[in-house]
Amino acid sequence: MQLGVPTETFPGERRVAIVPAVLPTLKKLGLDVVVERGAGESAGFPDASYVEAQATVGSRTEVFQADIIAQVRAPGANPSGGAADTAMLRNGQLVIGFADPLTAGDAAQRVAERGALLCAMELVPRITRAQSMDALSSMATISGYKAVLIAAATLPRMFPMLNTAAGTVGAARVLIIGAGVAGLQAIATARRLGARVEAYDVRPAVKEQILSLGARFLEMPLEAGDAQDAGGYAKAQDESFYRRQRELMLKTVATTDVVITTAAIPGKRAPILITEAMVKAMPPGSVIVDLAVERGGNCELTKPDETIVCYGVSILGPTNLASTVPYHASQMYARNVTTLLQHIVQRQKGPDGKATGAPQLVLNSDDEITREILVTRGGEVIHPRVREPLAVK
Ligand SMILES: NC(=O)c1ccc[n+]([C@@H]2O[C@H](COP(=O)([O-])OP(=O)(O)OC[C@H]3O[C@@H](n4cnc5c(N)ncnc54)[C@H](O)[C@@H]3O)[C@@H](O)[C@H]2O)c1
Repeated sequence: MQLGVPTETFPGERRVAIVPAVLPTLKKLGLDVVVERGAGESAGFPDASYVEAQATVGSRTEVFQADIIAQVRAPGANPSGGAADTAMLRNGQLVIGFADPLTAGDAAQRVAERGALLCAMELVPRITRAQSMDALSSMATISGYKAVLIAAATLPRMFPMLNTAAGTVGAARVLIIGAGVAGLQAIATARRLGARVEAYDVRPAVKEQILSLGARFLEMPLEAGDAQDAGGYAKAQDESFYRRQRELMLKTVATTDVVITTAAIPGKRAPILITEAMVKAMPPGSVIVDLAVERGGNCELTKPDETIVCYGVSILGPTNLASTVPYHASQMYARNVTTLLQHIVQRQKGPDGKATGAPQLVLNSDDEITREILVTRGGEVIHPRVREPLAVK
């Protein structure tokens, strides 16, 4: 069974889906890996490093002949190049990658029409058993870290408090709104740089995690009734809640040097938590990094992939931060994909317990992980959450 690794074609995408370090594990699964020439170059993995790890290097056409295709951006998550990839797919082939299935159902539909199976990495359930396949968390970790670094590089001040012969430098004040995976990593990174960090999240369960990272929890007289769903995600609140949240945060925002926003509700537009009036109240030179930009943004002035300066405040809306740390992003993603492959590719064991048989795809819909990630099968979009918006169209 062959696993193909194409070069990513989305503009500015520097990650690669499989790195040489996971090839021995894939070999044990019975998978022969064929990598497109130059696929790992921009992430720091030259062709020679794959060849050394027993992969072959070939053309894009050769790669797309493999039984399984592993991509960072599969059709759906690659508006510019996804259609060309879909045209190369064949009946029974399996594609694994981010696929933006809940908003780009049409792209999944076209994959289904080719008879191919699509596994969307966004749909890996957030259960303990699937933690090592959770690429959303891996990428959010990187985004949270990098958001702090770009904020620090943009801010005309330093982060740490310094007592020097030339006087005392005060620590930067950082506010993190939304303390999920990205937010918690942003808190940890800002603390390491010596900033004074405050954070807020609607889910009360997060308070302890914020405190354990050495940040203060921003206490506000706000009652987020039923803030968390069964999956651990935030539930949407009504507009009056968000209005009150904005009013209460204004005082803090007005004395903050850096605001990093990550607040999101799965499947919904991100709530607006920073208004233009709040931006106007911030100290000149301060910085907002809006990580919710892909879901509409938490600041009403954010523009995707632009830095705008308004009332002396720099507002950044980076959409693909994980790709700016391509080496580790690819390493983490490749481990997530490899664990998923270990879950769905099986080999018969010989009497000595060694896996010797030919590898087989086992897509058992009784298994929660397989059922949740599989978007297309048998020529159809089978995932209920992806089918719903398609039926409405
Ligand atoms: N395998 C697992 O068990 C597993 C894996 C990953 C994540 N999780 C959990 O899932 C949860 C969400 O993860 P995520 O980072 O992907 O979330 P996310 O990207 O959907 O949202 C980011 C954060 O924004 C917060 N938020 C929403 N509205 C807000 C508002 N108005 N004000 C302030 N904050 C607001 C959310 O509570 C969340 O913490 C976390 O508890 C995380 O620990 C569990």
